[in-house]
Amino acid sequence: MAITPPDELWWTTFNQFMIGALVLGTFVSIVFAYFAIRYWDKRIKPQDAEVLLGPGRVAPGTGKIGWTRYTLVVTGIIVTLLILATFPRTDYVEATPPQTDLVIWVTAFQFGWEFEYPNGKKVVNNLVLPTDTVVEFKVTSRDVFHAFGILEIKGAKIDAIPGILNNLWIKTPSEPTVLNVICYELCGVGHSLMTGTIEVVPPDEYQAFLESP
Ligand code: CUA
Repeated sequence: MAITPPDELWWTTFNQFMIGALVLGTFVSIVFAYFAIRYWDKRIKPQDAEVLLGPGRVAPGTGKIGWTRYTLVVTGIIVTLLILATFPRTDYVEATPPQTDLVIWVTAFQFGWEFEYPNGKKVVNNLVLPTDTVVEFKVTSRDVFHAFGILEIKGAKIDAIPGILNNLWIKTPSEPTVLNVICYELCGVGHSLMTGTIEVVPPDEYQAFLESP
């Protein structure tokens, strides 16, 4: 089953917002420039402008309300579409993944990360994961508030709070690589040193690692 990972969805959403902003921004700029030229009142001298257009004053009215309505309608349509497109995606990202290949338990502490595999194997700070795998992280903390995040994966960030289990899921890259884990919440003097790595390796290498003592 093809699964859209949250970071891919994040970029799609970002690009759609960007296109919407460009379209709307261009439209507004054109209308703005048109108004500035069309309704330029040459009778107003620069030295009068401050008196006529000072705080709390508006220019002597010659414009019409029509264009404002069009602008509002266009803005309304774009914003509504973006909201409709974004809410289901937020749900999708925050829920458990449609299919989970691997669950990793993450416990943050001052100052590091403990990772536990389904077979009970535990590692500190340096996690090994197989390529092309949907991984669900169950994140908590054993002391203060931290935030678990993976630097290279957009949007992969979740609070690590004592007594609370938070969910974060990703799809690992399809090529072997090393990802960086960092803490995103000020948690004490060692906060900036609270880093780790995720080594993404081919499945057979991962299996060998998992079975090693
Ligand atoms: Cu843990 Cu900052």
